[in-house]
Amino acid sequence: MRNFTSIFLVIFLLFIVGCTSQKEKELSSENSKKATVSYIETPDNISSLLVKNTCIACHDTNKHKVGPSFRNISSKNYSVEKIIKLIVRPNPKNWPSYPEMIPIDDLNQDDARNIAIWIKSLD
Ligand code: HEC
Repeated sequence: MRNFTSIFLVIFLLFIVGCTSQKEKELSSENSKKATVSYIETPDNISSLLVKNTCIACHDTNKHKVGPSFRNISSKNYSVEKIIKLIVRPNPKNWPSYPEMIPIDDLNQDDARNIAIWIKSLD
């Protein structure tokens, strides 16, 4: 009976070890995937929205300009609705080391939504 218990224990331990190393493999491939994406191309349809609405004067997709990069904004994990609100009414407290963004009141709702969905997809 004791033998049976130890065999069971060994199998159980092997199972746990197997699961953990699988998880580590998944995690490390996830990390290397992120690390290789060092530059994200801005799609043409979004680029033209950013130019039309002058966002491009202060924001870049990959690096900070007058304001934070869109990738950096994306890393805050806002919902699409929240991003739309923040474009119209930015909250400078979220970015203490930057100057204040001027609220963009006259932004077309479709443009705002398309930009917000794209920002959300960057993270
Ligand atoms: C005159 C410069 C300027 C323009 C033009 C501008 N921004 Fe900004 N933006 C900033 C700065 C500076 C910040 C960081 C400080 C802040 O949030 O007030 C910022 C922050 C943001 C944030 C994050 C807000 C938060 O509270 O986390 C979003 C989203 C954003 N901008 C989107 C846009 C979009 C989209 C456009 C074009 C429709 C745009 N911005 C145009 C300068 C600008």
